[in-house]
Amino acid sequence: MSIKSRKIDHIKICLSRNVQFRKKNGFEKYELKHNALVDFNFDDIDIKTEFFNHKLSAPIIISSITGGCEDAKRINKNLAKAAQKLGIVMSCGSQKAMIKDKNLAYSYQTRDVAPDILYLGNIGLDYLKDKKNFDRIKSAIEIIEGDGIFVHLNLAQELVQQEGERNFADSVVSLTEFVKFMDLPVLSKEVGFGISGKVALKLEKCGIKAIDIAGAGGTSWTKAEKYRQEENSLAERFSEWGMPASESLIKCKSAVNLPLIASGGIYDGITACKAIALGADLVGLAEPLLIEANKNSESVERYLEQFIKELKTAMMLVGVKNLQELKNNKEIIKLNIN
Ligand SMILES: Cc1cc2nc3c(=O)[nH]c(=O)nc-3n(C[C@H](O)[C@H](O)[C@H](O)COP(=O)(O)O)c2cc1C
Repeated sequence: MSIKSRKIDHIKICLSRNVQFRKKNGFEKYELKHNALVDFNFDDIDIKTEFFNHKLSAPIIISSITGGCEDAKRINKNLAKAAQKLGIVMSCGSQKAMIKDKNLAYSYQTRDVAPDILYLGNIGLDYLKDKKNFDRIKSAIEIIEGDGIFVHLNLAQELVQQEGERNFADSVVSLTEFVKFMDLPVLSKEVGFGISGKVALKLEKCGIKAIDIAGAGGTSWTKAEKYRQEENSLAERFSEWGMPASESLIKCKSAVNLPLIASGGIYDGITACKAIALGADLVGLAEPLLIEANKNSESVERYLEQFIKELKTAMMLVGVKNLQELKNNKEIIKLNIN
């Protein structure tokens, strides 16, 4: 099966089937502490931040979703327009499709509608095995005028795919060499199975500049693969595999000093508030934004405006008026044991 048809299938499946984990991301076990008396104005709540020298209006990234087919072009444009309007970060889906077929590059290009955003590319770890690919990746980033690139770790997804990659020998060495080769920041992300503290440390040693923990509790890629290949009993067996996002965030926060993105089922502003209180610098979303972007860019904007309103409301209710006060603030959040 070509990468292009796989990309088409992924979009279709995520839009038509329930690909969410049954298990939760763990943030529901945390409670933000109510503060009945604050002495500031809601309108003065400031959620501006910086990420890789880019000023952001809100601590949000549109996670890597797509590229490589006609629908991807429409979806990426809708996402990018909203990112430009709202002043947030966006990343595209794996660029392997456009590297294999240059005619697909257009589906990742968004600078005409989003000239100012921090736009991050994406490639899978397995593609770094062959050093000859380094130049190809660099040129793919230039073509989309990207500001950096995510290397995604998707071992569970590859292993359950019938045609998936099995050989990850020397991947740490390849990643280290790739980071040295690139003159733009290289970030790393999971795709929904989470990153442990030990893995985060390894990534930091490779020179990775930020990590999106992308934990379990949101979109399950083993579940999506189960629907793509109906007879895939291996994907079925592993459909609940992965480290819940909240646990992954906490482990990574105590292991490394890198900027952290929390994602994996973070679909509302209260959960985002909890993730930032537990140490995230940004929060990321994929599946809900795919659904909105399939309609139009205004729908993406509306979803995110509501998300931001919820984040600010939660911030006021815990008594913090900016992200410096919210970030990694254990005094405003507690673990509910019951
Ligand atoms: C249709 C779709 C395609 C995706 N493709 C990629 C990809 O190419 N590269 C990648 O790193 N992650 C990819 N992801 C994973 C997301 O970036 C994200 O890590 C995962 O969906 C969990 O986040 P969520 O619960 O907010 O959906 C994709 C997600 C969706 C929904």
